[in-house]
Amino acid sequence: MAGLFIVFEGGDGVGKSTQIERTRVHLTEAYPDLEIVQAREPGGTVMGREVRNVILHGDYVAPKAEALLYAADRAHNIATVVRPALERGAVVIQDRYIDSSIVYQGGARELGDEVERVNTWGTGGLLPDLTVLLDRSDGEAWLQRDLDRVETDMVARREHIREGFRERAALDPDRYAVIDAARSVDEVQADVAAAVDAAVAAVGLA
Ligand code: TYD
Repeated sequence: MAGLFIVFEGGDGVGKSTQIERTRVHLTEAYPDLEIVQAREPGGTVMGREVRNVILHGDYVAPKAEALLYAADRAHNIATVVRPALERGAVVIQDRYIDSSIVYQGGARELGDEVERVNTWGTGGLLPDLTVLLDRSDGEAWLQRDLDRVETDMVARREHIREGFRERAALDPDRYAVIDAARSVDEVQADVAAAVDAAVAAVGLA
């Protein structure tokens, strides 16, 4: 596909939103001729926002139902937002993708390999060109926040979650930039920008 698909992954509270916003600004300034599209899972589409509410702010959801809801949100987001953007030649920067489901539902909720299979089916096997993994232990500050339903469940498993993401990156190192996120925002951003610039060049967009 013509564009570039960049995904940001990592545990809760590692600074993803800040780095995604900085990356959007960097790309817009560095490549004024490129279309930059921001996407997110869960909840990047109208349908996805309903799914996000059900999963994160509703009553108990059975683990398999939770995994399928994330997969449904993702299938819709990829079909209606991401693929069309990539076909136009855009750079898509997305908050979370299949690795989140593999790590949270497959790993932390112990649903296993089916999670990857159902998501591969749902997305037609679309892989990111680059996954930026923001790697750090969750700070104490994050634990003081108002946590949603999934976050509350995951607090006790957060070191497993960190390890799960690192394992995903180790399986396919060429597609990942594992970045030490326990540093200043500027230091982290410098490494993110270098990885993103390399990816833009590698697909011939600049
Ligand atoms: P996110 O929107 O990244 O968090 P925030 O509330 O900080 O904006 O994700 C919400 C929660 O959903 C987060 O705890 C991770 C979880 N999640 C999964 O468990 N599986 C998934 O496939 C995805 C995309 C997210």
